[in-house]
Amino acid sequence: MKISQNEFDLFRRLIQEKCGIALDNSKAYLIENRLARLIAETQCKNFGELYFMLKNSARAKKLLNQVIEAVTTKETLWFRDQYPFKALTNIIFPEYSKQSDISEINIWSAGCSTGQEPYSIAVTTQEFARTLLDGQKFQKRISILGTDISERAVEHALIGEYDEIAIQRGLSPKRLKDYFYQNEKKWQINDSIKRLTHFHCQNLLDIPSQLGPFDIVFLRNVMIYFSEELKIKILKRVTTVLKKEGYLFLGTGETVQGYSDRFAFIKHEGGIFFKLL
Ligand SMILES: C[S@@+](CC[C@H](N)C(=O)[O-])C[C@H]1O[C@@H](n2cnc3c(N)ncnc32)[C@H](O)[C@@H]1O
Repeated sequence: MKISQNEFDLFRRLIQEKCGIALDNSKAYLIENRLARLIAETQCKNFGELYFMLKNSARAKKLLNQVIEAVTTKETLWFRDQYPFKALTNIIFPEYSKQSDISEINIWSAGCSTGQEPYSIAVTTQEFARTLLDGQKFQKRISILGTDISERAVEHALIGEYDEIAIQRGLSPKRLKDYFYQNEKKWQINDSIKRLTHFHCQNLLDIPSQLGPFDIVFLRNVMIYFSEELKIKILKRVTTVLKKEGYLFLGTGETVQGYSDRFAFIKHEGGIFFKLL
């Protein structure tokens, strides 16, 4: 079913307001494709009717969640881009392991999708802890929070079970053997890794003031979908939940440059990450 310009404008505004994703005119096909199932399910005659249901029906909240599920891109993989996890191992964790006065090390994976990012951080933690004499003590200090706007993604992350296709994306055979067990045709992450993490649904447009403070924030491949104004706003908000001298990781195509002057740049293993000044 085709979407008219008027209908597209209505959905575009709604999606930007509810989850920050900015869509230009070239993305009309995306709305057509991604909402096609919802149109069929609700038996709406056109996109205008679906929009009306989203605004007026008793099912409005549930429908809005379905729209958000449909328009969010949850593409992710294990140890994505490698360098953030090398930076944890080579720079950040050694620095924190020497500071025994810091009791907790809080890490936030914002826009964590189905959990591959926070679990990769947890595996990195355990591998680093094994190199220390008092590794258990270090590991106990780490707490990793994964959040996402998608309820379905967060549920998946909480369960921590992955099919063969998801497993093959970025995970070495050694790590698969060390940190997962097979459950019929799927792979389940070990409890020792799971224990380092917790998850909940969180819209980045509504970061609550009681969230944090964090020592490290991963905000990777999420803001690419946001407008320039929203990037400035979200980064400003991140500076209020990140501790002074805390670390920020963005996706490889993303930067703070032009959006925030509160960060120093650090180069490591072909990538760049940021330190709050
Ligand atoms: C492309 S994935 C990135 C996953 C992971 N960070 C990575 O780099 O592999 C983007 C994630 O951001 C989430 N997302 C999009 N808009 C969001 C918002 N307003 N609040 C929270 N999460 C959002 C999506 O649901 C999706 O799971």
